[in-house]
Amino acid sequence: MSEWYKEDLAFIHDVGFSDYALQSAPGILAILEQNKIHKGLVVDLGCGSGLSAQEFIKADYCVLGIDISESMIDIARTRVPNANFQVGSLFKVEIPPCHAVTSIGECLNYLFDPDSDRQLLIQLFHRIYSALTPGGIFIFDIAEPGQVEQGTKVKGFTEGDGWIVLVEKEEQREILTRRIIAFRKVEEHYRRDDEVHYLCLYKATEIASELRQIGFQVQVMRSYGEYNLPKSHAAFVARKPA
Ligand SMILES: C[S@@+](CC[C@H](N)C(=O)[O-])C[C@H]1O[C@@H](n2cnc3c(N)ncnc32)[C@H](O)[C@@H]1O
Repeated sequence: MSEWYKEDLAFIHDVGFSDYALQSAPGILAILEQNKIHKGLVVDLGCGSGLSAQEFIKADYCVLGIDISESMIDIARTRVPNANFQVGSLFKVEIPPCHAVTSIGECLNYLFDPDSDRQLLIQLFHRIYSALTPGGIFIFDIAEPGQVEQGTKVKGFTEGDGWIVLVEKEEQREILTRRIIAFRKVEEHYRRDDEVHYLCLYKATEIASELRQIGFQVQVMRSYGEYNLPKSHAAFVARKPA
């Protein structure tokens, strides 16, 4: 069992934090259409509970979703039985030949894989370039430095029916730490789950430059269609020339 997005946090992310995936989906589908990708395989890296995968399947694409969290993949398999899902690190799994690769919701920032660093990220970009068919696209977003004012700790909470999640955020030298305490009601009691997530924050200009060196044509955006990304986030459309 992976130590990230365990059962309760995976459930809470799915029911309480679905906006990012659901509201970005129309914009992402429009980008696929604009790039004349009307069918074929979309590989979704960090697919979570399958929210984006469900939208891609509805639009007639085939989907392979990959996530390091077994609990996320369990929800995804139930939600989208006609997509394929695999548990594994997006930095290590084999990416099959495909028409598009997506990674939605700052998945590439996470330091869940103990080997993940900037070099592994650049290797991933190379592997995606090789896997894409000519004219294929890689659509993703990242969190940049500036999530939290340096030297401060920001605390907050989000609650829903039968759950509450408390988060303390701190940013030091381009590493964002999120200390998360989740309570979920199970019968008449609340069960507590603790996780600490570390994210490496990348500057959009540097990521765009790495992608261009590999051969991608790159567009940097602050929204997916009408969905504006949160503060200090950037989205990318990286196209392998036809
Ligand atoms: C904020 S969630 C976004 C999930 C989903 N894309 C969405 O928009 O709902 C980030 C996801 O990235 C996954 N993730 C982080 N690092 C990963 C890695 N190295 N390999 C695979 N999945 C990873 C997490 O398990 C989590 O499901």
